[in-house]
Amino acid sequence: MTTIPEKIREAVSYIKSCCNTSPEIGIVLGSGLSNFIAEIEEEKTIPYTHIPHFPVSTVKGHSGKLIFGRIGTKNIVVMAGRLHFYEGYAAGEVAFPIRVMKLLGVHTLLISNAAGGVNPSFNVGDLMIITDHISLATVNPLIGKNEDAFGTRFPDMSEPYSKELIGKGKTIAGELNIPVKEGVYFGVTGPSFETRAEYKMIRILGGDAVGMSTIQEVIVAIHAGMQVFGISVITDLGIRAENNLITHEEVLQAAGKAAPEITALFKGLVKAI
Ligand code: HPA
Repeated sequence: MTTIPEKIREAVSYIKSCCNTSPEIGIVLGSGLSNFIAEIEEEKTIPYTHIPHFPVSTVKGHSGKLIFGRIGTKNIVVMAGRLHFYEGYAAGEVAFPIRVMKLLGVHTLLISNAAGGVNPSFNVGDLMIITDHISLATVNPLIGKNEDAFGTRFPDMSEPYSKELIGKGKTIAGELNIPVKEGVYFGVTGPSFETRAEYKMIRILGGDAVGMSTIQEVIVAIHAGMQVFGISVITDLGIRAENNLITHEEVLQAAGKAAPEITALFKGLVKAI
């Protein structure tokens, strides 16, 4: 049976055989946030379906390709279409592309996502720089045999989101006149949105926003010694007393509106890293 490290190495070999690049920054684009792609001086695009062992995304709004290219002088790789635990992948599979990025040379990961706001001061369309996360309501991707080649059995999680990158992100947002909030991202498995009682509980437990992605990718990135910057677009509010109906269409629409700001911020960050 092919082991996980072997699968990752085979995926990396395939990518290297069709694209002679060494990306240093990896970018994961969340739901409705793919317009960042237009900013890339593209070198090579590889559909996930072509890469050996690469899990394939099925959700609407996620196109499923790795894009290699440049922003300014920086070599980047962008995951356009992320994998979600709720699609049926194991938590470790969700994080597979992050390990592929690591072996390609990526040291810094920029992640975006759509999230529900539970901080009562948040509005739809707000951007929230993620300062920390709560992963206990989703599944840890490191469960199982530790892959020593990537990192230690019990990785420290005291600073999953780099303070230095948060500082840079805030400075760049200020220069670009983009208002940003900060807060704690609370990870859930989905795919159902939360009940009113769950949104309330998430707030009580210390979450500012809640979402169905990001956590697995970040844990694996930290395990592998990468630096992470994460940002959420608040696409819906989970704390409304009335009309608490939430749809995926509404999430995609709100994310799409915020996409130009996230794109500008990521572009600035890539240049500043
Ligand atoms: N809950 C969970 N995930 C989400 C939400 C939400 O309200 N909005 C966007 N992703």
